[in-house]
Amino acid sequence: MFDVKRLLEAALKARTYAYAPYSQFAVGAAVLTSSGEIFSGCNVENASYGLTVCAERVAAFAAVASGSRELVAIALVADLPYPPLPCGACRQVLSEFNPTMWVVCANLEGQQRCFRLDELLPEAFGPDFQRVQKNKQA
Ligand code: THU
Repeated sequence: MFDVKRLLEAALKARTYAYAPYSQFAVGAAVLTSSGEIFSGCNVENASYGLTVCAERVAAFAAVASGSRELVAIALVADLPYPPLPCGACRQVLSEFNPTMWVVCANLEGQQRCFRLDELLPEAFGPDFQRVQKNKQA
């Protein structure tokens, strides 16, 4: 399928860069694109709290900002007693670029769960809805 180990290693490394002085909860993520490139991200918190961005969105935006919109998979790693799951906002953002991408969740003990994004965000709102709306207006 794809090199899950390589993706998890990138997420694990990105986690070491997490800026999480408020929650102390470090998260790392890494996105695999259709060209085989990996873009990573960590959570970046802010004193205002509300401006915090999750690791998954940082990784996805890094890929898109480098010209890679075809996301094949994302791995995320955090230190929990079970594999961490992406928050709702991140599920929505990831779905924009591939509603059926693979989501690999892992903790530091090596426990893993793998999902297809549409399992985590069924019946998603997506770019097609915008197109339908625009066609109506035209
Ligand atoms: N966080 C992520 O980076 N990814 C998730 O999937 C859930 C939460 C971050 C946001 C915040 O910096 C910290 O974890 C605590 O919520």
